[in-house]
Amino acid sequence: MTLRTIDSLGPLAGKRVVVRCDLNVPLRDGVITDDGRVRASVPTLTTLVAQGARVIVVSHLGRPDGAPDAKYSLAPVAARLGELLDRSVGFAADTVGSDAAAKVAALGDGEVLVLENLRFNAGETSKNEAERTAFAGELAEFADAVVSDGFGVVHRKQASVYELEQLRPSAAGLLIAAELDVLDRLTENPERPYAVVLGGSKVSDKLGVIAHLLPRVDALLIGGGMLFTFLAATGHKVGSSLLESDQIETVQGYLTEAAERGVDIVLPTDVVVAASFSADADHVVAAADSIEATPFGASGLGLDIGPETATAFADRIRGSKTVFWNGPMGVFELAPFAAGTRVVAEALTEVDGLSVVGGGDSAAAVRQLGFEDDQFGHISTGGGASLEFLEGKKLPGLEVLGWQ
Ligand code: 3PG
Repeated sequence: MTLRTIDSLGPLAGKRVVVRCDLNVPLRDGVITDDGRVRASVPTLTTLVAQGARVIVVSHLGRPDGAPDAKYSLAPVAARLGELLDRSVGFAADTVGSDAAAKVAALGDGEVLVLENLRFNAGETSKNEAERTAFAGELAEFADAVVSDGFGVVHRKQASVYELEQLRPSAAGLLIAAELDVLDRLTENPERPYAVVLGGSKVSDKLGVIAHLLPRVDALLIGGGMLFTFLAATGHKVGSSLLESDQIETVQGYLTEAAERGVDIVLPTDVVVAASFSADADHVVAAADSIEATPFGASGLGLDIGPETATAFADRIRGSKTVFWNGPMGVFELAPFAAGTRVVAEALTEVDGLSVVGGGDSAAAVRQLGFEDDQFGHISTGGGASLEFLEGKKLPGLEVLGWQ
């Protein structure tokens, strides 16, 4: 079955449409540092406004503890949305309380209102289905129809993502449809060679996706903090670099399986090793098999892939027809350790085929490093969601919209 689309909801003029977006953007001192997810929400909202719907936007931001917490307020996001939509966007200081109710009631056709952070309400993320359903019921009071467009959160069984959609006529927004269009191309007969580049800190976050991808890809390129667990699994000492010792055996299993299947797991041959975790720390390039031979000895910290590795990864990426990349290659936020991520991003922009940047940190990294979104085939707004999709998992927020 395919997704229910906005058209299936019938004419929406004058109707109250609750739109579940993922406006979970990074903020520093109340200022949005990457507004990619807000921009990605615009097409659906513009469509609904043009139809004369009364648009009520809901989202989470961060992981507050089920109660109001000013540092996770959506107020700055509502302001940014107003700029992007080029119209006045209202903001309610609560999600289902008296301010929200009054502002929803006063909403005119074609107007937009953002409600305060869904996760200020314990029912949103409760493990208890009855509590989630009760909170979804409160949200549903504001809705004649629901449009689900928060792709980044479709892997969560949460009230606004799963239960709400069952209480009112609901459909997927344009962002979810666009995301699935691209991610489907990665899973259904991807053009070959198909390379997946994985980074980020933890192997344990990527186990499912590695296991699922091994039979499907031609090459798996490993960078980021997780590379050290791979190096340890091949017998190397990694100093004080990030290491998940409890995953070494699993990783050895992947290496054996890859060899049997003829899949290349490409590991770094050199890494940037620093004396400490800071932008002005002394650092050197070391061969991957002699990290502890640097002047920092066993206290050296690997914080990026080295230049030889970056070049090898870039060659492999450029030679592929389909590339998916999730997770920075190093600590790109600190200038001396950003080169690996930059070289990989650059290579993705040169792929003669489909290049996809998967969500969250990687999307923020490419933007922070000065790349434009349109240099890539697609930048997914979902980190965890795109990985779980590639793992072949059933995602509750998609199933509830008719996707199978
Ligand atoms: C994300 O940033 O991956 C999504 O917004 C989901 O957020 P969560 O991991 O806090 O559920």
